[in-house]
Amino acid sequence: MGNKILVIGSGGREHALATCFAKSPTVEKVYVAPGSHGMKDVAEIVAIDAMDFPSLIAFIKSNQIDLVFVGPEAPLSQGIVDVLSKEGIRIFGPTQAAARLESSKSYAKTIMNKYDIPTAKHSTVHSLDEALTYLNQHPAPIVIKADGLMAGKGVTVAMDDETARQAVHDIYPDPTVHCPLVIEECLIGEEFSLMAFVDGESVFPLDIAKDHKRAYDNDEGPNTGGMGAYSPVPSISREMVEEAMDKIMRPIASAMVKEGNPFTGILYGGLMATSDGIKTIEFNVRFGDPETEVLLPRLITPLDQVVLDVLDHKHVTLEFDPRFALGVVLASKGYPHAYEKGLPIEGLDKVDANLFHMGTSYADGYRNQGGRVLFVMNYGVTLEKARESVYKEITSIHAPHCFYRTDIGKTQGDLQ
Ligand code: AMP
Ligand code: GLY
Repeated sequence: MGNKILVIGSGGREHALATCFAKSPTVEKVYVAPGSHGMKDVAEIVAIDAMDFPSLIAFIKSNQIDLVFVGPEAPLSQGIVDVLSKEGIRIFGPTQAAARLESSKSYAKTIMNKYDIPTAKHSTVHSLDEALTYLNQHPAPIVIKADGLMAGKGVTVAMDDETARQAVHDIYPDPTVHCPLVIEECLIGEEFSLMAFVDGESVFPLDIAKDHKRAYDNDEGPNTGGMGAYSPVPSISREMVEEAMDKIMRPIASAMVKEGNPFTGILYGGLMATSDGIKTIEFNVRFGDPETEVLLPRLITPLDQVVLDVLDHKHVTLEFDPRFALGVVLASKGYPHAYEKGLPIEGLDKVDANLFHMGTSYADGYRNQGGRVLFVMNYGVTLEKARESVYKEITSIHAPHCFYRTDIGKTQGDLQ
């Protein structure tokens, strides 16, 4: 009998995870909790919330699940790995203490500074007064980051002083509010995402991917969770990836061991290739979304075997399809701000590409439910071919209340 896998989460990343597990010859069955209707092509949907640990434990025990894989950050930062491990369940992800690398920007900064891991210079302030004083001494461009989990939306890259001051006022609506806020140097360069399977000091990197964080074409508009992605990334050389492994990924893994918080799970480095070397923008403690939707479809090595080997402290080798994968997010008009939900999405059956459901509901056909709704992905022997096919296929979808960027894969060095 093969492995029974439970994926926790409900977005495009979890659909890609479920798809990747389902294609492994050693996987017998995949469940997703809470998942969504759109994932029924590869998994059985389990109506349990990702934060309802007691019900998850009961389900896992009664269905003899062999491996639990956690997609999103929220259950990790609430200690799902600590709680389920105590029950003897095999679960892949960091402990609550190690998940602070993502859940607390100030914790991540403290560790990076302590262990000389390159990152933007920063200061942590706690009040409006302190923040405004700091801004007076450090003019724009400057970056304001709310502490805590904000799904990529708590960050303002302020190109002028007025925007910086406004962002600070948004965090501290009045002078009595006290909470940590990170203000940091604005890094200039090309951004890329490097993810790795980590087991203590051992770090096994995946290929790199590039995300497009801004809402609109030409990198305009507010930051989002990501509007499109592709992998591999030709403009980031092998030497740059090696530098990132030597100076950032392996050192942070070994720093966590030294701190008494060894990291197990997927470590995501949000990195920037600056004129002064590779620097860390952020760490996440889980797979990126939508990077996963272009990386896992390229992974040839069976995912369940990789994860179980990492949990058994074995060495793993990851093999990737050499083709490019590129995907575009179809988002609800208004995202990352308020948007109307429950409107129909038609024509999905006419799309000749891979579809990952990021935020759809199903009631008499698919409808938009989340800000990011669908990820349309295809392969190509060149980046341009992958791009062309995605943009051709996405026109088959009829959803006038949705929008997408038209320049995914085109913004920096990789395509002119
Ligand atoms: P984060 O949530 O920290 O990933 O930030 C979201 C996005 O804001 C990043 O992907 C970058 O595009 C941008 N950003 C964050 N920090 C910086 C920085 N120090 N310099 C330049 N851009 C940044
Ligand atoms: N795509 C960025 C993230 O997952 O945080």
